[in-house]
Amino acid sequence: MTQVRSDEIGPASKVPSGVSPRQPLAELVVLANRLPVRYSSSGDGGEWLPSPGGLASALTAVLVKNNGLWVGWPGSSDHGAPPPEYDGIQLKAVDISEEEYAEYYLGFSNATLWPLYHDAIRYPEFHRSWWQSYQAVNERFAKAAAESVAPGGTVWIQDYQLQLVPRLLRRLRPDVRIGFFLHIPFPSAELFMQLPWRRQILEGLLGADLIGFQVHSDATNFARITRRLTSADGPSTHLSFEGRSVRLGAYPISVDCAQISEMVANPAIRARATAIRLELGNPTTVLLGVDRLDYTKGIGQRIRAVSELYADGFLVPGEHVMVQIAVPSRESDAHYEDERRTLEQLVSGANGDQGHVGSPVIHYIHQNLAFEELVALYLAADVMLVTPFRDGMNLVAKEYVMSRADMTGRLVLSEFAGAAAELRGAFMVNPHDLDGLKEAICSAVKASSKEAKTRMARMRRHTLRRTVYDWADSFLTALSDGER
Ligand code: G6P
Repeated sequence: MTQVRSDEIGPASKVPSGVSPRQPLAELVVLANRLPVRYSSSGDGGEWLPSPGGLASALTAVLVKNNGLWVGWPGSSDHGAPPPEYDGIQLKAVDISEEEYAEYYLGFSNATLWPLYHDAIRYPEFHRSWWQSYQAVNERFAKAAAESVAPGGTVWIQDYQLQLVPRLLRRLRPDVRIGFFLHIPFPSAELFMQLPWRRQILEGLLGADLIGFQVHSDATNFARITRRLTSADGPSTHLSFEGRSVRLGAYPISVDCAQISEMVANPAIRARATAIRLELGNPTTVLLGVDRLDYTKGIGQRIRAVSELYADGFLVPGEHVMVQIAVPSRESDAHYEDERRTLEQLVSGANGDQGHVGSPVIHYIHQNLAFEELVALYLAADVMLVTPFRDGMNLVAKEYVMSRADMTGRLVLSEFAGAAAELRGAFMVNPHDLDGLKEAICSAVKASSKEAKTRMARMRRHTLRRTVYDWADSFLTALSDGER
C-alpha cells in the first residue's frame, strides 16, 4: 500500500484519475478535511498525488480493513473528479470554493483555531465572515456524510476543521454512531474563552458519542470548559448532554511500525542512508529536523540553538552537520511566509558564519520528500531534533524511534509535544528555554552509546506496543461498545 507519512509529508506516487460511480452506502465513513489524495496542477496537465498530513496514512489503513468510504476535500478547485478509489478505499469529494478556501480553510481553521489551539503562539484572528464560512462548509460535510453512511453505520470525524459536524450530522442521521478525534491539542479554558463562538464549537462536538484526544490533559481541558459553558454535566470521561451520554478519552495516535521496520530493512533505503552521510561529508554526527514548515514546530529555535553551539565551539563544522527538512505548508498565510523568511535568514546566518565552501553547517531543504527518503534520513541521523512549542502528538518522533532498529540514535523532544507523555527515553526539553535546548542537544550528542541504547530501547518498546492500527481499533471499538 502506498503510504504517506505522519503530519508532514508529500508526494510519493501518482494515483490514476477517474470518474466516481454512484457509491453504495458504507458501514464506516471517515470524514476529514482532506482526502488522502490531492490534485496538483503543476505537473503535465495535473495529477492526483497522496495528500500531506497526519491523517492520510493512519486512516487509509483503517478504511482498507473496513471497506469504508473517505469523505473530504481534494485540495484544489481546478480539478476533475477525484479517483473513485485509492489504495482500496472509496473516495467522495466535498468541494470548497475559492472564497471558502480563504475563509474556512486559511481563515477560521488555520488563522483562528490553529493558533488558538496551539497556545496562541500567533495571535488568533476572529472574523465573523470566516465563522460563517466554517459553518457553511461544516454543513456541507455533514450532509455528505449523512448521504453516504448505511443505516446504523459509523461516521468518524477528524480534526479541528470539522468540529461542528457531529451535532449537524446527529440532526440529519440520529441512527448512526458518531466519533470525533482531535489530532491537535485542546487548549486551556483561559485561551478557549477568547473564541467568540466557543459555545457553538463545544455543542458541535457534543453531538458525538465519543470524543477522542491525543492526551488526557486535552480531554480534561475540554470537559472543564464544556461544563462551564454548556449544559453538559458529569465526570471528565462521561458527560451527559441533552439526555445523551458523550464519552471522552485519550487515544494517542501512532505510526505503522511494521511498515517502517520493513523499510529500514530494505537494502535500497539503507544504501541511501549511507549515501546521505557521504554526501554530507562523512561527519561524526548528523543532527536532523523533519517538520511541516509551521511556526508551532520550533524550527527557528532549534536552528538558533545549533548556531550558538557552533559559535560556542561545542559543535565543530565538518564534524557535526545539521539537516532540516521543512515541508511546504499553508504557504499563502502571512505567518507561514514570515516563518519561512525567518528560517531562511537563520540558516544563511549560520552558514555564513560557520560554513565553508562545499560544507555548510546546516542543510535546509524546503521541499516535499518521499517517505522512503525520510526513512533514509532517519537512518542517517545520530540525533533527531523534535522541538515544537506545542504539538498534538508529533509522529516524526515516533517514526524516528521506529527507524532505529539497532537501538542507536538519540531523540531530543519537546515537553510540549503529545509524544512526550509516551517517549520517556528522550532528552526532554522546554523549547522556549534556549540554554536548556542547547544543553539537551549537548547531552544527546555526548551521551554514551550505552545510555543512548537504554533510552532508545525504552522508547521502542513503548512505541511497538501501540501502532496506528491499535489507535484506530481502540477508538472504533470504544465507539461501537458504548450505549446508544
Ligand atoms: C496537521 C493537522 C491535519 C492537517 C495537517 C496538514 O497534522 O492536524 O488536520 O491535515 O496538519 O495541514 P493541511 O492544512 O495541509 O491539511
